[in-house]
Amino acid sequence: MAKYSIAWMPGDGIGNDVMGAARLVLDAMGLDAEYPHCDIGWEFWCNEGNALPDRTIKALRGTTCGLFGAITSKPQDEAKEELIPELKGTGLVYFSPIVKLRQLFNLHTNIRPCKSYPGNPLNYRGNQITNPGGGEVMIDQVVFRENTEGSYGGVEFHPLPEGVYTALCANPKMKPWKDKGLENVALSTRIVSKQGCTSICRQAFEFAKQTGRKRVTLVEKPNVLRETGGLMTRCFRELAKSYPDIWADEANIDAICMWMFKNPQDYSVLVAENMFGDIISDLCAGLVGGLGFAPSGNMGDKYAVFEPTHGSAPKYAGQFKVNPIAMLLTAKMMLEWLKETDKATRLEAAVARVIKEGKVRTYDMGGKASTMDVAKEVVRYAS
Ligand code: IPM
Ligand code: MN
Repeated sequence: MAKYSIAWMPGDGIGNDVMGAARLVLDAMGLDAEYPHCDIGWEFWCNEGNALPDRTIKALRGTTCGLFGAITSKPQDEAKEELIPELKGTGLVYFSPIVKLRQLFNLHTNIRPCKSYPGNPLNYRGNQITNPGGGEVMIDQVVFRENTEGSYGGVEFHPLPEGVYTALCANPKMKPWKDKGLENVALSTRIVSKQGCTSICRQAFEFAKQTGRKRVTLVEKPNVLRETGGLMTRCFRELAKSYPDIWADEANIDAICMWMFKNPQDYSVLVAENMFGDIISDLCAGLVGGLGFAPSGNMGDKYAVFEPTHGSAPKYAGQFKVNPIAMLLTAKMMLEWLKETDKATRLEAAVARVIKEGKVRTYDMGGKASTMDVAKEVVRYAS
């Protein structure tokens, strides 16, 4: 029996392409693992009415962790259109299987590192004033995103149930919506807990402490989202007291999008609730070459699912032309979590070397190499 059982979830779109690259590298590095295939993604929604079939949930429970490629998510109306005729009009509701996985397995912490690897032609170069030489700006950021709460909790209504509507209307601030009429109002909630806020902030501080990072920035908007943002800010401030050597600073989500664009090298660890973490992690990815370079790990207490931050890019599916680097760095995060430290270090060093040498590049980096060409080049240095 293999040492690890890694749930293999290519998903759809380019998920299969990048997972192929990951597998080539993991096999070449001699990871002692088996990879049970698990069905997940758009085709299962269309054919079965469930993008995350029960058999997958069951299979995952028997694995060490999961590796995930990419998945297409579409808004409700479009999703219903694509169901097979037998399932149309049966009241099925589409949900994002990755969001569901995070919740089902309590994968409360999403870690998203973004690093500018030297030699990446897509690295952020700043502007003429802050960066007169136009050279690469060295960026090394890690986003800690709360992964199960906030506006991803799935508590949403349209139309509002009578009871919810009546309860809300007891608040005078509801007047404008009351005037618009029950049937014209939709509601999505942002619910956070003290436990959730404390846990994500603590992990961000602990990570900073363990890796010698000097700054942890909370990304929120407590001046408007007074209750949820306020709770998060209080938890952050309380924890900060236990880390006197770390600069704990706070920024509003809008302001930090501007500041990070101006001075990205100044930021190190960023911590945020679910939606703001989602937003800021795409910005971080953009600064280091785009989503082709952004890995992530959904971590629970005993289980984790690793996935690149990028989506499924359906138009490129099966062409093996997309950049597998985000996926390979995701595999590196998985190796770290498995405590295969040596393999993780070797894999990251190999990726860094391939980027620096610049001989084998996918189209986004200005090259002509395929997904698998990049994987093979990484294998040359990693094994
Ligand atoms: C991500 C993605 C997902 C999210 C989508 C696909 C539901 O954007 O992992 O960042 O919003 O969390
Ligand atoms: Mn996202």
